[in-house]
Amino acid sequence: MLQTPTSEQTARRRVDDQPVVLRISGLRTRFALDDGVVDAVEGVDLEVRRGETLAVVGESGCGKSVMARSVLQLVDRPGRIVGGQVWVPRPPEPTAAGRRRGWFGRTRRPPRAEEGPDGMVGLVGADPEVVRAVRGKRISMVFQEPMTSLSAVHTVGHQITEAIQLHEPMTKQEARERVVDLLRKVGIAAPEKRVDAYPFQLSGGMRQRVMIAMALSCDPELLIADEPTTALDVTTQAQILELLGRLRDELGMAIMLITHDLGVAAQLADSVAVMYLGRVVERGDLAEVFRDPRHPYTQALLRSVPKLGRRTGERLAPVRGMVPHPYARPSGCSFRDRCDHFIEGVCDTALPPVVRDEHGHEVRCVLYQEDRR
Ligand SMILES: Nc1ncnc2c1ncn2[C@@H]1O[C@H](COP(=O)(O)OP(=O)(O)OP(=O)(O)O)[C@@H](O)[C@H]1O
Ligand SMILES: [Mg+2]
Repeated sequence: MLQTPTSEQTARRRVDDQPVVLRISGLRTRFALDDGVVDAVEGVDLEVRRGETLAVVGESGCGKSVMARSVLQLVDRPGRIVGGQVWVPRPPEPTAAGRRRGWFGRTRRPPRAEEGPDGMVGLVGADPEVVRAVRGKRISMVFQEPMTSLSAVHTVGHQITEAIQLHEPMTKQEARERVVDLLRKVGIAAPEKRVDAYPFQLSGGMRQRVMIAMALSCDPELLIADEPTTALDVTTQAQILELLGRLRDELGMAIMLITHDLGVAAQLADSVAVMYLGRVVERGDLAEVFRDPRHPYTQALLRSVPKLGRRTGERLAPVRGMVPHPYARPSGCSFRDRCDHFIEGVCDTALPPVVRDEHGHEVRCVLYQEDRR
């Protein structure tokens, strides 16, 4: 059920004046396969500020997960980032002890990374030390497949300890105490006992909490949560969302919440980016975008979910047609074949530019182009 928060609610957490923790610019990720090329991410621009929750929404196959993995330079072959940059605040220099133990590489020269504005560094093309100093430490990720991300043959305590010790030198006992503390923080009852449990001994919701605990183990500035509640029943889903919101407020952490569920987005996020076939077609303040959706794709997505306050008996309409095969991306606007406002000779010829209003609400559609209205 979609319950759109009011502007006052989201204004509570206005973050416009906070520093940027992630800026994605022109990001392009491609899979060159034997029988075709998939441009999974095709020029994405996004920004997340400290304490902000950005929801990334869109149908299956729109490139949400590939975009998230590209941020952390975790795209598997044959995938490759072919353009753009992922800017993050410069990570701290490795400590002398860390350098001695070889965690940040053994070279004496400072690791290389593209220098950006505002003291940011680019992760695309950076030395592995720079990526390692960010991944799992400044930015961590809860992956879409929690059941396959946990090892079945190690206790959860062992797995979280490994994540901690990768970044911070500490004794086994210290690490164990830290793990128990983390499990308590994510709402696992009797953490002193559960620390020795194997994943199969836990419920789906508890495993998801363990994944979140692992992601939080190094106090990240930004947590990327890819469909964190999809496999869970509605009650557990609500609990996990509540947990993420609480942790965000307590730890001052930013969240990039990836979901195909607009109801989930509305419960947690301040801002939203709508993705379609590898591109962001609309973004802005969540309450504003849900109240006044501009892109025909966003409008269709919102028509497809039940809404609180809508007259009973009103029909829900699924988005017409299907996401095209990734090898056969339409020219011009990729949504044109499914769009009720398609203009021949316009929408099929050139990629529409991004139009931005004074409130920062952006839409990539010719219907809003000044000279076309
Ligand atoms: N390893 C891979 N090899 C080839 N193509 C891939 C690979 N991973 C993703 N893709 C393609 O990239 C595109 C984007 O996939 P992605 O997983 O990012 O979608 P998504 O928006 O996360 O979808 P979902 O909501 O189902 O998780 C899809 O067309 C997919 O087929
Ligand atoms: Mg995905």
